[in-house]
Amino acid sequence: MPYINGLGKYVPEKIIDNAYLEKLVETSDEWITSRTGIKRRRMAAPDEITSDLAYKASLAALHDSGRNVTDITHVFVSSATPDALCPITACVLIRKLGIKGVMAFDCNAACSGFVNALQLACYTAKADPNALILVVAAEIMTRKVDWSDRSTCVLFGDGAGAVLVSQNLPPDPKGFTAEIKDILVDTDGEFSELIAIHAGGSREHYTVGTPVNREYFIRMEGREVFKQAVRSMTSASQTILERNGLKIEDIALAIPHQANDRIIQAVGDRLNIPEEKLFSNVSEYGNTSSASVSLALADARNAGRMPAGSTVLLTTFGGGFIWTAALLKII
Ligand code: ACO
Repeated sequence: MPYINGLGKYVPEKIIDNAYLEKLVETSDEWITSRTGIKRRRMAAPDEITSDLAYKASLAALHDSGRNVTDITHVFVSSATPDALCPITACVLIRKLGIKGVMAFDCNAACSGFVNALQLACYTAKADPNALILVVAAEIMTRKVDWSDRSTCVLFGDGAGAVLVSQNLPPDPKGFTAEIKDILVDTDGEFSELIAIHAGGSREHYTVGTPVNREYFIRMEGREVFKQAVRSMTSASQTILERNGLKIEDIALAIPHQANDRIIQAVGDRLNIPEEKLFSNVSEYGNTSSASVSLALADARNAGRMPAGSTVLLTTFGGGFIWTAALLKII
């Protein structure tokens, strides 16, 4: 299977803590912390756009791998919050990176977008052994929440993570290096209404001058999403472990989608993953949608939680519904 070689992240400087949200909506640090584990989240500066976050994470991944930007052959940007409907963020990103002539496109699979893009990168790397694929997940969720809706505005944050994927490693790889052992992606459109942004696409009829109302912002049936998220990430993790002949004891670290500490904990409990093998940085960043697992990977690596030789389990869940699991062998 292909390899990740090079990992980078970027989060905006501005920190929004729970005390700040207490001034915006009827909520409390106690409610947010006990229900979600989130203490603070990052917010992009007014002049920062998704491709800026993607750009900085990409530079960090390139720096980590020691590769040149001109070595990149493909750019896949995962985002549910792109710069614009058109042009695609991937093309803005390659302009910022100063490269041309590469295959570049956006992929949106909501919170599971990073692992979906990683899967696509694996297919591409297998088909083209000379490819060097930049996979970036970048989100500015704070621009897609209704800041008067306390049930969603406390949950989300901004950030980006990037990796480089190739079929073969350079002779002396630098930086974060892992073999992508397996990826599982699953979907069920039955529940697509439970997490949605209804307007802004072709579905809601709008015309020039139509006011921007609540339909343009994220809506979520929290309780049902919670149940489905736990169920799906648990079963995907069990399936990928079984089909690779692994047990939970073989896993050094599990990194679930960073939506909510209670979801992470519930998945950990069902899989019997001990506390010290369950990674969470949701207290720092909130839910950064598809960027979440890539940011968590970068933080886990910086914290020394993924030593060489260890096997790491990723699992994600998001709107659609789309859920995933992946196994990485750290080199
Ligand atoms: N502060 C204070 N009270 C609040 C807040 C808030 N920020 N938000 C909701 N409440 C209130 C509700 O109004 C409700 O009050 P009521 O009983 O008077 O009607 C009460 O708290 C309970 O509301 P619930 O929504 O039932 O609260 P719950 O315990 O389910 O927690 C939460 C809500 C945190 C959203 C939870 O359902 C959850 O974590 N769901 C999963 C959502 C998620 O993480 N999705 C992401 C996965 S997919 C993706 O990443 C897009």
